Amino acid sequence: MEVIIQPNAEAGCLLGAGIMAKMIRDKPDAVLGLATGRTPLQLYHELIRLHRNEGLDFSRVTTFNLDEYVGLPAGHDQSYRCFMRENLFQHINIDQQRTHVPDGGAADLQAECREYEQRIEAAGGIDLQLLGLGRNGHIGFNEPTGSLRSRTWIKILSEQTLKDNSAVFGDFATMPRHAITMGVGTILEARRVLLLAFGPAKVRAVTDMIEGPLAAVCPASALQLHPRATVILDESSSAGLRYAEHYRWIDRHKLDWQKHG
Ligand code: GLP
Repeated sequence: MEVIIQPNAEAGCLLGAGIMAKMIRDKPDAVLGLATGRTPLQLYHELIRLHRNEGLDFSRVTTFNLDEYVGLPAGHDQSYRCFMRENLFQHINIDQQRTHVPDGGAADLQAECREYEQRIEAAGGIDLQLLGLGRNGHIGFNEPTGSLRSRTWIKILSEQTLKDNSAVFGDFATMPRHAITMGVGTILEARRVLLLAFGPAKVRAVTDMIEGPLAAVCPASALQLHPRATVILDESSSAGLRYAEHYRWIDRHKLDWQKHG
C-alpha cells in the first residue's frame, strides 16, 4: 500500500485529481470507479477545472459508481445518481450513456446487482477505483464484518453509517436502511485503487486499514491485499499511524517514475 500524507485535504484532493487526470490522458477510454460523500468533492471540482481550462477530455471515459441507496426514485435529490450529476457529470463532456450507478429503484434488486457486475466485466474491468473511507472502516457500503470477498449486493447500513451520512442526506428518519454496493471482492479487482481519507474522524479507520490486521471488522483493510493501492491522507487523518515517518521517508525517496501517477 502506498501511503501519501499531505498537509491538508485540499492538497490531497489536488494530488488525487492529478492521478486521475493522468490516467485519462494516458488512456482516453479509461474505466473509472467513482465514489460519493464529502471527501471527493474537491477532487471532482479539480477535474472540472482541468476539463474547462486544460481540455481534459472525458468523451471516451466510462464510469461505475460504487453504490446507491435502495428505494429512492430515480430523480430523488439525495440519490447518488443525482449527486454525481450535480457534482461532476453535468460539468464535463462525459457521455451519460457511459456513466453507471447501481439502480436502487430496480424492481428486481438481486438481478440489478448481478447485471452491474456483468456491466463492469463487459467494459473490461475498472482501471482506477476512487474510494472514500467510512468512519467505521467501510468502503463503498461494505460494513464491518461483511465478507472480504463479497460481490455487488444489497447491504444493510449500520446505525453509525446512517448517522454519519444523515448530515448530507438531510433526515435520519427517512434515510433508506439499505444500499446496493460493489463488494469488497469487486473493488479488489480494480487494476488500481485510490483511497482518500481526511480529518480527525477518520483516524481509527485509517490506522486499522493501514496498520491493523487484515480483518473483516475493518473492510478497508482488505486493500492490504491489493497490488496497487494508493492512500492519500492529511495530517489529521494520519495522526494515529505508527509508521507515519516511514511513509514520509518512502515518499521522499521515490524514483521519478514512482512519483504519484
Ligand atoms: C458513504 C459512502 C462511501 C463514502 C463514505 C464516507 O457511506 N457510501 O463511499 O466513502 O460515505 O463519506 P464522507 O466522504 O462523506 O466522509
